[in-house]
Amino acid sequence: MQQHANHLPSTTGIREQPTSATNHPLASAIVDAPKERGNRFGEARDFGSSVGKGVGGSVEGRKLATGSHRIMAEAEVELSALAVEVERLRVQGATAIFVAIDRKADGPLAIAVRIKVAAPPAIRACGRQSFASRRAHGLRSVGDTARIIAMELTEAIYGRRATRAFTGETVTRPVLERLVDAAIQAPSAVNEQPWDFVVIQNALLLDRISVAAKAHMLEAMDSGTYPHWLRESMENPDFHIFYHAPALIVISVSAGGWAAEHAALAAENLMLAAYAEGLGSCWIGFAQRWLETTEGRRAIDVPEGFVPVAPIIIGHPAGTTPPVPRKPAHLRWATTQPTVMSAISTL
Ligand SMILES: Cc1cc2nc3c(=O)[nH]c(=O)nc-3n(C[C@H](O)[C@H](O)[C@H](O)COP(=O)(O)O)c2cc1C
Repeated sequence: MQQHANHLPSTTGIREQPTSATNHPLASAIVDAPKERGNRFGEARDFGSSVGKGVGGSVEGRKLATGSHRIMAEAEVELSALAVEVERLRVQGATAIFVAIDRKADGPLAIAVRIKVAAPPAIRACGRQSFASRRAHGLRSVGDTARIIAMELTEAIYGRRATRAFTGETVTRPVLERLVDAAIQAPSAVNEQPWDFVVIQNALLLDRISVAAKAHMLEAMDSGTYPHWLRESMENPDFHIFYHAPALIVISVSAGGWAAEHAALAAENLMLAAYAEGLGSCWIGFAQRWLETTEGRRAIDVPEGFVPVAPIIIGHPAGTTPPVPRKPAHLRWATTQPTVMSAISTL
């Protein structure tokens, strides 16, 4: 919204107040989000603001107002239909404000501080700040911070997708280092922290691994039953097991009882962190068996005493990947009926 005249029509409920171009973080977020989505901006007239309440004006002949419930009340905008949604957004840590068009509530607008999964030092620092200092950074309390982080985490858990198409853009070293840093925040049995990460960005090496891994899988298929599509993929010279991703991170783990668990926990952290960075990722199981061979270990220089477990491709996604529907959770609640209790002989 471009800001123009400084007086408001009374229908917006915002009293006249001179306004200048604002750097208020919430206002910037509201302006930046549609810009990022490529939305068209109409010209705003009769713009005005009311400190702590909101802003309003008219765009293409329609009266617009956005802000708190107080400004809506002054403009006599009925909000009851939005109350539940607004509360849900607030509980998730977003600042929820209202938008009204021609004095009718059009919907809530949620503004949240985007805290990247890979920004823990900033989050920790925030927890140590004084209340006044947090306010200055747009955070109202430590509780708010926690809720905002929770919302971002939920978004990452539900939004991450196995990505199989990438732009040619490389992923920079600092970004890859942040992904690895997120990976090593995973828990490990007896705090072993048994991970080794190797990043491969050489396209020729990735091509070679793809060819070798496919050949290895085809060999293995001779002595077992495998789905037809899998054999076809492995025989297809155009099928690249890494989908031409610009980077592959292989997580190896010190050999021991919990190798798979340790690798998988780090891998999920890494993939969620990649999502938070706007990147796509996919665990490539097709590469695993070959990477375990002597030739495979040598190709990626797996340290002695470690096993390569999780090959994960990383890159800038080309387009969006639709979500893969989940089967209903196979969830049961254990009972304490006598028959169940007596199944454990020591009870
Ligand atoms: C252990 C493991 C191995 C996988 N191997 C491959 C693979 O070799 N190639 C591939 O395209 N996707 C692979 N995937 C990705 C899965 O196909 C994908 O996670 C699944 O279809 C669900 O989609 P989503 O991750 O988008 O929710 C693998 C995933 C896991 C966890």
